Amino acid sequence: MINPKSMIVSTGSAVPEKVLTNHDFEKMVDTSDEWIRTRTGIEKRHIAAEDELTSDLATEAAKKAMQEADVSPEELDYIILATITPDVGFPSTACFVQKNLGAVNATAMDISAACTGFIYGLELADTLITVNKAKTILVIGAETLSKVTDYTDRATCVLFGDGAGAAIVKPAENSRGILGTFTKSNGNLHYLLHIPGMGTKHLPTHETLDQHLHYIKMAGREVFKYAVTAMGDAAVKIIEDTGLKNDEIDLLIPHQANLRIIDATAKRVNIPSDRVFVNVNNYGNTSAASIPLALDEAIKTGKIHQGSTVVLVAFGAGFTWGSAAIKL
Ligand code: UT7
Repeated sequence: MINPKSMIVSTGSAVPEKVLTNHDFEKMVDTSDEWIRTRTGIEKRHIAAEDELTSDLATEAAKKAMQEADVSPEELDYIILATITPDVGFPSTACFVQKNLGAVNATAMDISAACTGFIYGLELADTLITVNKAKTILVIGAETLSKVTDYTDRATCVLFGDGAGAAIVKPAENSRGILGTFTKSNGNLHYLLHIPGMGTKHLPTHETLDQHLHYIKMAGREVFKYAVTAMGDAAVKIIEDTGLKNDEIDLLIPHQANLRIIDATAKRVNIPSDRVFVNVNNYGNTSAASIPLALDEAIKTGKIHQGSTVVLVAFGAGFTWGSAAIKL
């Protein structure tokens, strides 16, 4: 019997108003709705306005989660923001969210773990509550990937979208809570999915801009293979570690990058499609926002509720991967 130390008490999410459909992409690059739909499952994605920042989406999602749990800004002990599209080089985007919220008592920090970022954040929040006796933690996954997407590269531009999801994590009560987390990374494969030019290695010059080094580069087929294996492994690992039986899992929420990867992950752990959450069709791949956006939508649409058992699993650049089992 697991005694959870921390639990998710509320969630919130936010997406930009503007939407790009597959048909919009047919006018921009050599692609088709049919190709995008059959290869990825994506139909549309939300795109931030020019002046809409990762911190804006993160703040909106955070406010909804805080309102739902009746948490005041002053109560927040930590703000953990997972993102690979920070507003600026430094300070952290979490510090901008802290300012926006007026969370004067919080320690604010970013996590860079790409699509696995929210699970890394949950693991950290769980540890801070267990070890540091923190009482109220805001964990956010937020991205404006459209700002680092190369809209001349058909192999990547159709995949990504913008959004944010947030959760309030507090000490566990009544056997509700985070039953376990698992995280892993492999830096040897950094070059298969990356932005070469947003850091100090290639400071922006006319040359780096001409070479599109400030945009996402991905070896799609290679990443696909690793993603299928790692997401399957991570899902198996957390189910084994927590001793969950198949029929105790109410919902599997995999990272929403590609419907074929989601299906392969579900098959590996033998969860039927009616217990697998999918919204990649509406949002595309929103990296760190993907899991909390899906979790919030699953709760708000009544697919899961207090007492439901949920398995989260993700894979992303780094490579990073991980999973979590939660009793809501
Ligand atoms: O979130 C972090 C993890 N990221 C992922 O999990 C993404 C993993 N990768 C994928 O989801 C898939 O690899 C993609 C969706 C990116 C690509 O699907 P694929 O089945 O692996 O396609 P491919 O890259 O092998 O390309 C197949 C063909 C190629 O043409 P040829 O060489 O066979 O003539 C591509 O040039 O499809 C072509 N292609 C496109 N055609 C129309 C690539 N992108 C497009 C496009 N529209 N947008």
